[in-house]
Amino acid sequence: MLLLSREDILSVFTMRDAIEADKRAFVLHTKGKAIVPLRINLETESKSGQCMFMPAYVGGELNMAGVKLVSCFPANAERGIPVIPATVALIDGTTGLVTAIIEGTTLTQIRTAAISGAATELLSNPDSRIAALFGTGGQGPAQLEALMTVRKLEEIRIFDALPGRAAAFVEKNQPLSDRFGVKLVEAASSKAAVTDADIITTVTTSANPVFSNEDIKPGCHINGVGSYTPDKRELPAELIRRAGRIFVDNREAVLSEAGDFIIPMKEGLFSSDSIDGELGELILGKVEGRRSKDEITIMKTVGFATLDIVAADEIVKKATEAGVGTVIKL
Ligand SMILES: NC(=O)c1ccc[n+]([C@@H]2O[C@H](COP(=O)([O-])OP(=O)(O)OC[C@H]3O[C@@H](n4cnc5c(N)ncnc54)[C@H](O)[C@@H]3O)[C@@H](O)[C@H]2O)c1
Repeated sequence: MLLLSREDILSVFTMRDAIEADKRAFVLHTKGKAIVPLRINLETESKSGQCMFMPAYVGGELNMAGVKLVSCFPANAERGIPVIPATVALIDGTTGLVTAIIEGTTLTQIRTAAISGAATELLSNPDSRIAALFGTGGQGPAQLEALMTVRKLEEIRIFDALPGRAAAFVEKNQPLSDRFGVKLVEAASSKAAVTDADIITTVTTSANPVFSNEDIKPGCHINGVGSYTPDKRELPAELIRRAGRIFVDNREAVLSEAGDFIIPMKEGLFSSDSIDGELGELILGKVEGRRSKDEITIMKTVGFATLDIVAADEIVKKATEAGVGTVIKL
């Protein structure tokens, strides 16, 4: 069995690798090759934390099962350890043996950012030059790298609701943006961040829309990554109504979890028929993507375990080839 740490993952798995792995996961999902049961949530006796189990089996050329173990223990912040620790176990579909245990927080950050990367590559205007990133938390840096990986950007504006966070993020991620030759700018307001932006990624914990529809220019591509409960949304209903093309990672999951659609649907402002397709359908050419330069395109993701298993499989293959990680026998 192979054990892989954060450093091991980062040494073998690039953002480009992750984008290609996510595209494969979307295609396998659309072809009906993945079984993804509902997540199991167990709460501790003291209600101080939750343990979640996200299983999946992916057939086709993969033939791998696995489970992501994710917990949420808010008091860990005072203990100086992660509030949302995650670990992925990979199981061989031929033998049933656990073949690898992988640090799951890093895997989640990269595979989630790669969703935005894949969608931006497929849907944004190729000549996009200005992007905006909302949210500078744990997911932020990888999202930044995904944007820079798929488009030749000149400037990325960073906005966070908490004072000081955007400035600190800009400083910390300067080496990354220098590598891509992109200027990182702290945006003074939400409006300043999105005005004239060609691409926007929202990866916040906000319960309410993080920008106004009126400030979004025609042709903009938006990745909605943050909201995942029916009562929270990052995207304004007016923008969702205005969008020419709307894509999701997993139609069923998005329609049961994403307030971005559920709230406007309850208000009679949006119908699920207006979702044009899943990203896998777009990749397979089953549905049309962007149809004009001025069309607004939206990608909404809530994530699902198939993405974790396909990414984990690819990481293990690359680590094995490179001799990275620790092999243990139980
Ligand atoms: N789609 C997926 O597959 C997927 C995967 C992982 C995480 N997520 C979601 O992404 C979101 C961000 O995760 P994280 O770990 O980075 O969270 P985090 O708590 O580390 O950071 C969230 C950041 O958003 C900022 N924020 C809140 N409201 C804002 C607003 N209105 N405008 C700008 N910034 C605002 C906060 O100040 C904070 O800096 C969470 O909701 C998480 O559940 C989605």
